[in-house]
Amino acid sequence: MNIRHVVESQQFTVPLLMRLFERTRTMEYIVKRGGTRDYDRSIMGTLFYKPSTRTRFSFESAMYRLGGRVLSTEQAREFSSEIQGETLEDTIRIIGHYCDVIVLRHHEEGGAKRAAAVSSVPVINAGDGEGGQHPTQALLDLYTIYNECNTLDGLSVALIGALDQGRTARSLAYLLGKFDRTKLYFIAPDEMQIKPDILEHLDKHDVAYELASNASGILPHVDVVYQTRINRERLLQRDIDLTPYNIDRAVLASMKADAIVMHPLPRSVEIDHAVDKDPRAAYFRQTQNGLTVRMALLTMLLDNY
Ligand code: CP
Repeated sequence: MNIRHVVESQQFTVPLLMRLFERTRTMEYIVKRGGTRDYDRSIMGTLFYKPSTRTRFSFESAMYRLGGRVLSTEQAREFSSEIQGETLEDTIRIIGHYCDVIVLRHHEEGGAKRAAAVSSVPVINAGDGEGGQHPTQALLDLYTIYNECNTLDGLSVALIGALDQGRTARSLAYLLGKFDRTKLYFIAPDEMQIKPDILEHLDKHDVAYELASNASGILPHVDVVYQTRINRERLLQRDIDLTPYNIDRAVLASMKADAIVMHPLPRSVEIDHAVDKDPRAAYFRQTQNGLTVRMALLTMLLDNY
């Protein structure tokens, strides 16, 4: 199965994920060797309507390491023609004439789907809206879990944070649900709990899950703790004590010796910096995987194109 656009993580089948991961291993070798010139005729456009460090830099680095070139707008709301009233659809139609693949982070949920509907070149969703998806983050997250746990079957995964607006947790839940005997724990304050669309999907596919507002009884038993950020602006409006959702050395001490702690980053206070030194802290290795997974994904899309 080939895909033309990457809009949501449900698009990926297990065989396609395995093909991507196999190609990612090749990319790790290519990066160690200093890159390749194989894609020197390809141009990637990055169109970011919202801020990003990891996603934009890793996509751009991925394209350069493949020998390709990059056209970039990192503040598209200000520096694209949107400011003059141009629609996203028109912008995508035009940029499609100048590049071979478009990486889009859009402020509206569904932005990537709208872009893909009119685009003449592959569109990659680099995050849409507050509660949409971030499928390429989920791909690198899944690859990290595969690398660190040596399997994707039979894993217990705790997803923590403002899950209602957690694009990365939402996309990852869809992917984890494709593997055997997955158990998901969604841990969030009640008002920030994962949205029903994800739960309906998991029910439909017989994936086991629990909702919880307290992490303490759960974290000692899981294989993966997937921590996410809680948007500070939301805290100003709501009186919620977030301390029980943070990971510090005491929480780490309660966890299994071979469990891992992940975070899509950027983090705020939800993972204490003292945790960084523990080998179970996988979040910086996770960002490293962002480069090679995105290289692999770009080659798959460009090869089909
Ligand atoms: N994880 C992630 O999407 O980070 P950026 O917002 O820095 O791209």
